Amino acid sequence: MKNLLSADQISRELFNEIYLTALSVRRALREGRKKFNVLRGKCVVNLFFEPSTRTRSSFEKAGKFLSADVINISTSASSVKKGESLIDTVKNLDMMHPDIIILRHPCEGAPFLAQKFVEASIVNAGDGRHQHPTQALLDCATLTEHFGSLEGKRVTILGDIANSRVARSDAILLRELGAEVFIYGPSPMMPRVPEALGVKRLNSFEEVKEISDAVILLRIQLERQNAKKTFPSVREYSELFGINRRKLEELKPGTVILHPGPFNRGVEITGDVAYSKRSLIFPQVEMGLSVRMVVLSLLCGRLEKLREEIQ
Ligand code: CP
Repeated sequence: MKNLLSADQISRELFNEIYLTALSVRRALREGRKKFNVLRGKCVVNLFFEPSTRTRSSFEKAGKFLSADVINISTSASSVKKGESLIDTVKNLDMMHPDIIILRHPCEGAPFLAQKFVEASIVNAGDGRHQHPTQALLDCATLTEHFGSLEGKRVTILGDIANSRVARSDAILLRELGAEVFIYGPSPMMPRVPEALGVKRLNSFEEVKEISDAVILLRIQLERQNAKKTFPSVREYSELFGINRRKLEELKPGTVILHPGPFNRGVEITGDVAYSKRSLIFPQVEMGLSVRMVVLSLLCGRLEKLREEIQ
């Protein structure tokens, strides 16, 4: 695989390969091993046109733990501020011979366009409402570890589906792995044609409670909404669609909660739910680092070397 642009590039077989290696990487990290020679001599560029905490820092850590040279470009301090285009930016960076460019951009399709102009591999770290494939990998890896398998599991994605690249990516990979995917949230935040995502729309929290083995909560993407005033308001959203301790206890006893982050306390989730035993939010973050170490190794053709080193 040259580029990782979309979750639909990930077959069940490839997921299993990435997942099993990520578990071994995580074990090595937990044992305190934080330096591997797998990507010595390789160069990774983090190019983020939108804010990020988890994705950017975990790709940076992943590259450094694997001994790659890592360059972080903050577009607010780059020539993008002087009007340089995406294509010109990636073309110029590519002339410095990076091996991988990790790209986050507010426009759908930006990484697909960028890959046409560069020799380096491109990883889509989120393009507008479209795709965030490494988030899908880490979410499915976290759920697979928790349940043993996703076959037949029912996963509800709750929130601002229409504006969410996480929902789009997760739905594709969850279905590839045999899960049934449902969506629930306020009507203005639902996609017009849920069937196009291969998901079924639920119409009440009662249904969410009855059906879900896992609930993936999403942040309201205020930055992607056109209207200045949204319906429902943040307060209404929290009352009608947010998960607090009372609603958590109404879910089936084994139902777990995920959230890609950043979560807004008191809006889609309360702090006590995020930190509860049924929350997999922080395990998701830990899994993200291992998964991204595997993805970087894979794109550089060094997955075998990674496996040898973590033995
Ligand atoms: N989940 C996620 O993409 O988080 P960041 O925006 O902090 O990278």
